Amino acid sequence: MSNEHSEMILVLDFGGQYNQLIARRVRECNVYCEVHPHTLELEKIKEMAPKGIIFTGGPNSVYSKDAAVCSVKLLQMGIPVLGICYGCQLMAHILGGVVKTAPTSEYGKTEVTVKDSGSKLFTGVSEKNICWMSHTDYIEKAPENFKITASTPVCPVAGMENEAERLYAVQFHPEVMHTVEGVKMLHNFVFNVCGCAGDWKMDSFVASTIDRLRKKIGSGKALCALSGGVDSSVAAVILSKAIGRQLTCVFVDHGLLRKDEGDEVEAVFGPDGPYNVNFIRVNARERFYTKLKGVTDPEQKRKIIGEEFIRVFEEEAKKIGVVDYLVQGTIYPDVIESGLGKSAVIKSHHNVGGLPDFVDFKEIVEPLRLLFKDEVRQAGRELGIPEYLVSRQPFPGPGLGIRIIGEVTAEKVAIVQEADAIYREEVAKAGVAKSLGQYFAALTNMRSVGVMGDGRTYDYAIALRAVMTSDFMTAESAKLPWDVLSKTASRIVNEVHGVNRVLYDCTGKPPATIEFE
Ligand code: XMP
Repeated sequence: MSNEHSEMILVLDFGGQYNQLIARRVRECNVYCEVHPHTLELEKIKEMAPKGIIFTGGPNSVYSKDAAVCSVKLLQMGIPVLGICYGCQLMAHILGGVVKTAPTSEYGKTEVTVKDSGSKLFTGVSEKNICWMSHTDYIEKAPENFKITASTPVCPVAGMENEAERLYAVQFHPEVMHTVEGVKMLHNFVFNVCGCAGDWKMDSFVASTIDRLRKKIGSGKALCALSGGVDSSVAAVILSKAIGRQLTCVFVDHGLLRKDEGDEVEAVFGPDGPYNVNFIRVNARERFYTKLKGVTDPEQKRKIIGEEFIRVFEEEAKKIGVVDYLVQGTIYPDVIESGLGKSAVIKSHHNVGGLPDFVDFKEIVEPLRLLFKDEVRQAGRELGIPEYLVSRQPFPGPGLGIRIIGEVTAEKVAIVQEADAIYREEVAKAGVAKSLGQYFAALTNMRSVGVMGDGRTYDYAIALRAVMTSDFMTAESAKLPWDVLSKTASRIVNEVHGVNRVLYDCTGKPPATIEFE
């Protein structure tokens, strides 16, 4: 993929926490950037011809048994390298410097002194500036021919470089926002050191992707499972621009969507919408409700919804006949996550991006494979997709099925749909949606006593959730204004039949998860 871009920066992943962030920062400089494992072969790297390479941080010591390493040859190719944290220590270690356990670890915001105002990396950076440190080892002695460019009271080599060899390294993390002048340093590396032009833009990405797909697919046929989420919608529009009616979008309405969502998707992609594609909406709600009857276990519910989804899609695909390409809305974080080691299964995710190999097709097309979520949204805007679709918050594949605790019934779906619509409306009205990663109503399986009018009620409790998160792996419960919560609560109990109590979930993740099941 990288050859399509006039210039690129390669980030080599040594297992650090902020690797995606480095790629983001570089792309924000309008320079295309990809993250690859540190084991990427030298030959491959040569083929990619990056303008610069960045070594990320990592959890190990350079002396540990399973330390992530790289060949010294990588540092001798004449391609500029910037080592960050572990990457900095690794560079020192490989080139004959001395890395040791630091007398005191440095964690958090730390004042760093720039010692060399002539350094290309530190051009325009204040002599004393705050950087984010997170290390237990440090470089005691830089390799020969390296100049020390920055230090802290604990860390004699917080920055070092060999300008002639185009090798640069910093012990701190310029990519995190707590490093106040970090963006400037990365900008300096990309432009002053690597000599990038910075001509990578989203509109050029969109145009070149459409062009590439048109050539690749020719007169072939493509099939896309459209969920109405941002990723599959943007992927479908890109394909529609490339091949028009050779594309068929299948939208499975499993009856577990948010209120009016099915109609919204149809309005955009259906025959009255602006896109010239074949659109098939399958109304499968009864089928899903029947399968879910009496099922209360969350994992079993997830499995049933996932499998049934595939069955329905398969049946529709069979009607279309042989297709050449299956379109998937896979985005970059999915690629990175699936490339990492095994982690414990907390929930078995169902995602239309993860369809198995049952449909008869030649190849999978993933036009968004190299984009981050906000870049996908940006591409969507470039393509003229309506804002309410483009800025939609994440919605899980199993839909409301995992926002209804216990058995799913049509009646419960209607309750949670109404409550959720009211909540979204109130959050939007109050203008607080922007700061939230995700917010929704869930139906607890609890009924309790209430009083309405003069009568006793025994109805369900709705739980409201709103979280702030950047990666959805961890999240903080949002402190929503009380006015918004009480207005929402009062509207829900008044307008939604079957609910007499509204609760707010103030648990973070961990220990809770974002969804309820
Ligand atoms: P949890 O509940 O695990 O959710 O904290 C983290 C994020 O993942 C979304 N989620 C899913 N997305 N298929 C999806 O496509 C799924 O099965 C699924 N389960 C959870 C959830 O909405 C949140 O954004």
